[in-house]
Amino acid sequence: MKLRELIQTQSQLLKQAQISYGHGTTNAYDEAVWLVLWCLSKPLDSLDESFEEVLDTAEIMKVEQLIQKRIATRLPAAYLTQEAWLQGIPFYIDSRSIVPRSLIAELIVDPDGFGQLDAWLHETTHQVLDLCTGNGSLAVLAALAFPDVTVTAADISMQALEVAQINIQKHQLQNRIQWVHSNLFNQLEGCFDLILCNPPYVNSSSMQILPAEYLHEPALALAGGVDGMTLIRPLLQQAPHFMTDKAVLVLEIGHEREHFERAFPNLAAVWLETSAGEDQVLLLTREALSLTLT
Ligand SMILES: C[S@@+](CC[C@H](N)C(=O)[O-])C[C@H]1O[C@@H](n2cnc3c(N)ncnc32)[C@H](O)[C@@H]1O
Repeated sequence: MKLRELIQTQSQLLKQAQISYGHGTTNAYDEAVWLVLWCLSKPLDSLDESFEEVLDTAEIMKVEQLIQKRIATRLPAAYLTQEAWLQGIPFYIDSRSIVPRSLIAELIVDPDGFGQLDAWLHETTHQVLDLCTGNGSLAVLAALAFPDVTVTAADISMQALEVAQINIQKHQLQNRIQWVHSNLFNQLEGCFDLILCNPPYVNSSSMQILPAEYLHEPALALAGGVDGMTLIRPLLQQAPHFMTDKAVLVLEIGHEREHFERAFPNLAAVWLETSAGEDQVLLLTREALSLTLT
């Protein structure tokens, strides 16, 4: 059997099993490509050259077992491969932390022309905070994209921070990223020029109908209370006290724009465009936050 035929048959199986996507791919074919190439230790960008390759029985069986495991357990593919890619950068991941997929990554590293973040940064942007850092991916991307900054990566979950430490080391950024175990800002000191935050924001009705894949992720990373704003309320209240004068806060809120605007009707948010549209990531200046909330 050729690699292309194996991908085809395995993608049919994924389709029939009606698995859910959203952890790095959006459809059965891409998911099959990813798992097949990974399973055969081929680089993920090597599909074209491997397409007509003839596989032996052992290789086929190995792939079939992996796809069966994906279907039977509903584990997100990234937990099976222990690898997730964001903007072309690889990250270690396991179930101690949510699979990284933040849209904020597009605003930091910008292959598709989004990246409006640059316009909000200054020569004086030196201190960056990745609050709710999970596996540390946004902290790592910020350190890679902005060579002049040092980054603080904070999370309430020590398990997530263990994964973040692996990624900080993987990218040899120990000198530029410090991790802090903190409930929001309570263990943080000083002021930041840029705060990135992808907090738990899924409202409770949505939490109840999450596909099985998402139930393998830490609930602490997803659940945002009745209207999704439970953590965001104290976050926005406290944030100005940890921001320099020209600082901005970039906040991801997923599909919760309606809840956000109901909770903060007077807040002057700037909505930032990402591949998911203009409703999921917003920017707040310190001034806007101070005027409205403190
Ligand atoms: C949606 S995940 C985002 C992880 C990562 N930034 C990413 O984009 O992949 C939210 C993270 O917030 C953390 N978290 C939840 N409550 C928190 C709190 N009170 N203070 C700090 N971090 C918190 C969770 O542990 C989780 O890692």
